[in-house]
Amino acid sequence: MTQNVTFDDLKTVTDYEEEHFTEATRIPMWDPEVDDVLVCRQVRQETHDVKTFLFSAREPRVFRFYPGQHMTFELPVEGMIMRSYTISASAARPYRVEITVKRVPGGPGSNWLLDNMLPGKEVNVTGPAGEFTTDATQEEKLLFISAGSGITPMMSMTRTACDLAEPTDLHFIHAARTPADIIFRHELELLAAQNPAFKLSFTCSTTSGYNSWSGFEGRLSLQMLSLMSPDFKDRKILCCGPARFMEGVQNMLQESGFDMANYHEESFDFGAETAGTFEDQIAAPEISDQTYRVTFTKTGHVVECGPGMTILSAAREAGILPMASCQRGICGTCKSQLVSGETDMQHGGGIRKREIDQGKILICCTTPMSDIEVDL
Ligand code: FES
Repeated sequence: MTQNVTFDDLKTVTDYEEEHFTEATRIPMWDPEVDDVLVCRQVRQETHDVKTFLFSAREPRVFRFYPGQHMTFELPVEGMIMRSYTISASAARPYRVEITVKRVPGGPGSNWLLDNMLPGKEVNVTGPAGEFTTDATQEEKLLFISAGSGITPMMSMTRTACDLAEPTDLHFIHAARTPADIIFRHELELLAAQNPAFKLSFTCSTTSGYNSWSGFEGRLSLQMLSLMSPDFKDRKILCCGPARFMEGVQNMLQESGFDMANYHEESFDFGAETAGTFEDQIAAPEISDQTYRVTFTKTGHVVECGPGMTILSAAREAGILPMASCQRGICGTCKSQLVSGETDMQHGGGIRKREIDQGKILICCTTPMSDIEVDL
């Protein structure tokens, strides 16, 4: 008789280890507060412009993450830049993490990774973090809709659900430019063949030259969606892709009368956020009705910061342009030193507790609660 490991077991892996491993064989958990170096172990070419990078810690570690969460990488480009990438691996395989990265023309992070990251190289990271996740083994009926490299969080959720062999009723729709651009195509087709409750559909913008293509062709439309997933209105929908793609999906669902309370989305393009995502990710900052003075000690600028205004907005008003990427408290790019004063920070995992203890703040999601000084 076999017994399946459930999603909940992921959360209690420490308890499991306590019971089943001796002191000599126990592998410590990856602790985001302490551990911050990953070593690249393998690089896989997925499509002509997409690679998967497999990492583990220097010393053996067990990673605990929820499918859909991301890690933020410090990359040595133009000094140093921070980039967040969703973990594409199954959360049920906790000894490694993988990210899958598509080359973005002119994108410094993706180009550096695809051209330079090799087995044996080390990289500093923070995380895992992020709220875009679902317990795919518990939801009754799910529909994933993704486009391009927005497939990565859905892939982690799908791999996890299939690894745990839970009877999830899951439809997965993915849009790509051509059949050759479909990331993870063969693995997804295999999972669909092996799991009766997993239904898979692809649509490609163009299929000319691909004579054996039997999937859909053209942009995802309401008519196409109804053919792919006739009961889509009964499902919880998770969507990830370029901002314009998600906007199109939202409009289409609204037009169909879909209950948008069951719609959730994640943009993998932090530079092109859609309205509402910020609130989905982190709690709104505590809003004081007072105005406080923010002094930027390096430049000497002083700005009056009104109710609800973040320190990043105040800096921009002063003509200072600090580095910032996600603007959601996730990536850590805007990390700065608070010199004095009280603040309220509502971050999404882009900063460690020990950094907070040292007076660091993420200025994109921090509002002043007194007159403050910031080292900018
Ligand atoms: S810009 Fe990403 S945490 Fe502030």
